[in-house]
Amino acid sequence: MAGGRARVAVSILDADHSNMAYGVRRAEREGADRLHIDVMDGHFVPNLTFGPRMIKGIRKRTELPLDAHLMISDPLKYVDEFLDAGCDSITFHVEVDAEQIEPALVAIRKAGRAAGLAVKPKTPLTALEPYRKLLDIVLVMTVEPGFGGQDFMRDVAAEKLLAAREYLSHRPVGAEVHVDGGINRETAEFVGGLGVDILVVGSVLWIPGRNMGREIRLVRALADEGYQYRLNHGDPPIPRDKMVTFTQLPKELAWRFLREIEAGGIPVIPLRGSGRFNPDGVRDYDLLVPASAEQLTIERHAAERDRYLDEAERWREAYAAEHGWAEPDSLRPARATGSADRSSDGAPPPPSH
Ligand code: DX5
Ligand code: ZN
Repeated sequence: MAGGRARVAVSILDADHSNMAYGVRRAEREGADRLHIDVMDGHFVPNLTFGPRMIKGIRKRTELPLDAHLMISDPLKYVDEFLDAGCDSITFHVEVDAEQIEPALVAIRKAGRAAGLAVKPKTPLTALEPYRKLLDIVLVMTVEPGFGGQDFMRDVAAEKLLAAREYLSHRPVGAEVHVDGGINRETAEFVGGLGVDILVVGSVLWIPGRNMGREIRLVRALADEGYQYRLNHGDPPIPRDKMVTFTQLPKELAWRFLREIEAGGIPVIPLRGSGRFNPDGVRDYDLLVPASAEQLTIERHAAERDRYLDEAERWREAYAAEHGWAEPDSLRPARATGSADRSSDGAPPPPSH
């Protein structure tokens, strides 16, 4: 995965449709972060493209995440087929019949995929309001949907991209704003400066003779520059997948704290790393959170963290008083070759009160 923050979803709309397997492999080889697949029904938009069978075929050719962008009038009718085809995310349009929207979003989320709503240039973002809790993705269209190669609508981007984040505030980590239409090296820095996560890039990548890999890298780098200088006080953006240690605790306490943090939508990875040895010979666990959510985690859980650290200290003292303090060095060689989970080898767990 690329460093930095911005990601490029390569739209295959303008690839050679008679040789899609080649196009998909090429996009992957050239460094695409995702594939963006534009499904059109000739009704919602005046153009026809491909359906779930095509996506199912593509699924077998690449391990890249597949973002489906449904420009169809009846997303609910076909959503199961697109799920079955192996889409990682499905985004359809908020302009379709209102009664379809919630059930389709729910079906996508139930299947464990990311659910998104797209807005045409003339549709206000407020149309998303009733569905905000169900959204993982907001896709802002900066051209009229239907065709690649149209001119970027700068005003639409300026009006909507930053504001779109508001509709994802219930998901502090992992939710995404996508921009779709007219993205290239001329527009990437601008949309990056409006905090967009995923840049959909289509026609410019498929121009004969174009160095696709270089174009992808340029778009990503320019978007990150835009973010750095317009939104991040000149500081380079945090790489999307960077994790930082929030605290270190004995296993039992670490697990309890992990569940509390995750209940608020912040994912936590427990890792046995460089934590101190406890009197029972088991090292503290690191609790890692996404760097992008570090500030939020501190705001929400710093006081709790102090309480947990106190509790850990009390437990260590109590354990040492009862069993005597076991020298870490004498334990290390004996335990170093144990299984990955060495916590349940007879040592009593920390008290849970
Ligand atoms: C247009 C599609 C886009 C299209 C973008 O309706 O949703 O994904 O592929 O193409 P470019 O990058 O050429 O605007
Ligand atoms: Zn699209």
